[in-house]
Amino acid sequence: MPETPLRFAVIVCLALTVLLSLACIEPGTSNEDATTGVSAVPAGADLHTAARPWEVAVQHLELDLSVDFEARALAGDALLTLDRRDPAVDTLVLDTRDLDIEGVWALGAGSDPAELEHSLGPDQGLFGRALTIQLLGDTEQVRVRYRSSPGAAAVQWLEPAQTAGEHPFLFTQSQSILARTWIPLQDTPSVRMTYEATVRVPPELLAVMSADNPTEKSDDGVYRFRMEQPIPAYLMALAVGDMAFEDLGGGVGVYAEPPVLARAAAEFEDTGKMMVVTEGLYGPYRWDRYDILVLPPSFPFGGMENPRLTFATPTILAGDKSLTALIAHELAHSWSGNLVTNATWNDFWLNEGFTVYIERRIMEAVYGRDYAEMLWLLGLQDLEGTLEELEPADTHLRLDLAADRDPDEALTDVAYEKGAFFLRSLEEAFGREAFDAWLRGYFERHAFRPMTTSDFLEDLDEHLLEYHADLRDDLQIPAWVDGPGLPDNAPVIESEAFERVEAQISVWESGTPAADLATDGWNTHQWLHFLRHLPEPLSEQQLADLDGAFAFSASGNSEVLHAWLLQVVDHQYLPAYPALERFLTSMGRRK
Ligand code: BES
Ligand code: ZN
Repeated sequence: MPETPLRFAVIVCLALTVLLSLACIEPGTSNEDATTGVSAVPAGADLHTAARPWEVAVQHLELDLSVDFEARALAGDALLTLDRRDPAVDTLVLDTRDLDIEGVWALGAGSDPAELEHSLGPDQGLFGRALTIQLLGDTEQVRVRYRSSPGAAAVQWLEPAQTAGEHPFLFTQSQSILARTWIPLQDTPSVRMTYEATVRVPPELLAVMSADNPTEKSDDGVYRFRMEQPIPAYLMALAVGDMAFEDLGGGVGVYAEPPVLARAAAEFEDTGKMMVVTEGLYGPYRWDRYDILVLPPSFPFGGMENPRLTFATPTILAGDKSLTALIAHELAHSWSGNLVTNATWNDFWLNEGFTVYIERRIMEAVYGRDYAEMLWLLGLQDLEGTLEELEPADTHLRLDLAADRDPDEALTDVAYEKGAFFLRSLEEAFGREAFDAWLRGYFERHAFRPMTTSDFLEDLDEHLLEYHADLRDDLQIPAWVDGPGLPDNAPVIESEAFERVEAQISVWESGTPAADLATDGWNTHQWLHFLRHLPEPLSEQQLADLDGAFAFSASGNSEVLHAWLLQVVDHQYLPAYPALERFLTSMGRRK
């Protein structure tokens, strides 16, 4: 995105504010500043949080929230149980953004609740405002009474017209640093906490969270949740609406608005198989149930790996399971990301690169090698496009995002596809057996822990390279991790199915009408390959020939339609503009 002067000014201001605040809290080399008594931020700490977990860490969260659709507010209490790691420190710093803080109380061993002094720091834009709470010597629990704002960035409040039914709907999306817009907490992936929640909603609606969930509405609209495994803040999630549940068996199920439920259940019928495959490869699923919530179409992502309850866009309901790699992806996060978690957003590739790699292993096991290779090739094509657009430093796996940059800027094909290709290059070098054994061990060794890129490299050294030292130089690890672009040992992928597509493109180019091409039995991925490799230039007549033969503009497959509409936009093919308008006004997923 080009920098506008305003954007530039905002960034400079933010940079200055962050630098100034760092200057205040980072007293050079000594661990404690003699004048302020504030200890230094440890090297490698997450820069996208105001929290100081090495001093005091939140261990457990107890939420009590009322959901007010009229006022578009979540209001209530967050009761935080603390681990006072540094007994000399008596301040707790939480992240907040656009929260109205109504009061803070301490609960200590044996003492009555006492109101605590607290203050909100300066507004740091998307980082929000630090809430600094003065603790008493014996404070083990802190209760924060608060209210979210109607514009809270994590929360979408939907009108009935934006749903498949007749009721309002609400969902949250906390990743990367939006949890702080609906809960005051330590909003960093390096801190984990267990949680429980009481959520009060209008009685005609169901509430679900990233926790153990009800399968039916309660009479009074009060729901209670527990998440007994410790999770980072970005996995906090809530949805409220007219939803129903269908059990798919094997500990797997689907939630959706009633008119969507049957279609969703049919689309996701292979989820149980995916679970069996993933457990076979990487060890037991540690989160008890695995359910999928299909959201209304304004959900801004394809999927989000909220523990026990993946949030998913309805636009993957293609009717033929052709877009369910996304479910394999979100399920894979139950190991890569939710179990072993990137310590900072600079290590985001540890979440997403591992997850894409596992997603493709799952797809290979369930649908065959040829199928998975198509996914690898489409991913490579995406990556090649992205590498052309990005600054070289942003194409390293290990990022070094300045403290003022939005961690969502890590959200590129580099983390996803370059990360996955790196792991595949390791798999090919070590052989599947050794690599799989290492990866399974990695999840065991680091379960419920944050992981930096350096921690990963150390683990790889100790548990895999140790036994294959002769391979070290061929792997080009420094080039993959801290270098730009794709190293020259990147795996080469071949797909006969795609070669057949390319052959038909040539046939079409030499004058055969689209309707006479040999496309019988092509799957979605072949059609995507076709649409991405049309010749240049394309005339209006050629586009009409394609749309006439294959009805792309009327496709019910959101990915095929998307690939077609990119051509429509590139070539200003006006007859398909009504389809383009429908797509742009109904698709929330960032396309
Ligand atoms: N965790 C991500 C979504 C995300 C990342 C949200 C960073 C906010 C910040 C999720 O697992 C994901 O990768 N979703 C993809 C799915 C895909 C790669 C199969 C999406 O939504 O497109
Ligand atoms: Zn992901």
